[in-house]
Amino acid sequence: MRFQGQVAIVTGGAGGIGQASAKLLASQGARVVVADLNETVGQAVADSIRAAGHEASFHFVDVSSYESVESLVQYAVDTYGQLDIMFNNAGIFGDGSHNVIDLPIEEYKRTIAINQDGVFYGIKAAADAMKGAGGVIINTASIYAYIADKNQFPYHASKAAVVGMTKAAALELGRYNIRVVAIAPGMIDTGLIDAWRDDERVWNTIQKAHMRRKLGTAEQVANVVAFLASDEASFLNGHAYFVDDGAASFKR
Ligand SMILES: NC(=O)c1ccc[n+]([C@@H]2O[C@H](COP(=O)([O-])OP(=O)(O)OC[C@H]3O[C@@H](n4cnc5c(N)ncnc54)[C@H](O)[C@@H]3O)[C@@H](O)[C@H]2O)c1
Repeated sequence: MRFQGQVAIVTGGAGGIGQASAKLLASQGARVVVADLNETVGQAVADSIRAAGHEASFHFVDVSSYESVESLVQYAVDTYGQLDIMFNNAGIFGDGSHNVIDLPIEEYKRTIAINQDGVFYGIKAAADAMKGAGGVIINTASIYAYIADKNQFPYHASKAAVVGMTKAAALELGRYNIRVVAIAPGMIDTGLIDAWRDDERVWNTIQKAHMRRKLGTAEQVANVVAFLASDEASFLNGHAYFVDDGAASFKR
């Protein structure tokens, strides 16, 4: 088993990408802490992993609070004795209705608090727990760290910061044998983009943004997350890896 004996935390574990990743890591031997704001769904994800014969538990986290993230990491170490894989994945998407001039300051701050501060807190707390034995930290960025869309100013800011933090943390944590990488997904068919689902014109545009005219699935992203967490990726460090069917490399 790829992750036998290892312990993983997945934030945003009740959502699409987090849920698929938690299930895949657990099915490959990891003991997984499913962490999310959403207790009902998060608990159900952990239950379904256990029902499939693997090890998992749910722990509440609000990634915009350092105390909450610190107690999540403490829970993993207290419960399972170690932490090997930290997937800082929880995130939100803005409502897409404000340009930068009209953007309410509070909306900007809320997105940064979850998408950016949350990843910083996850890196900080996980690295402290991993510094004795090493580990892997994976952060969820986005193609929107690299290409811009209208009315998503805070999302772009936060995801570009995730890429920057990934590089800086990889540089500082290499001495502890901690790898820090990021993923930059294209549009993935999860609840995050539900707001666009009912508008056929918008949905078609999103599909066409990918080279094979289809959105990605959470499982396709989870496969990359598991690869990055594994020893097969042992020379990958300090970069964000696109999981986007080429969406960020062609002109629309
Ligand atoms: N779906 C996409 O098209 C897409 C594309 C690029 C990047 N991403 C990124 O992937 C990550 C996962 O998104 P998803 O597509 O699975 O969306 P999702 O909405 O299905 O899952 C996000 C999860 O994060 C949780 N969450 C939100 N705020 C939180 C907080 N403060 N503390 C703890 N948990 C919180 C939610 O409860 C939810 O379960 C996000 O960082 C998102 O920005 C998604």
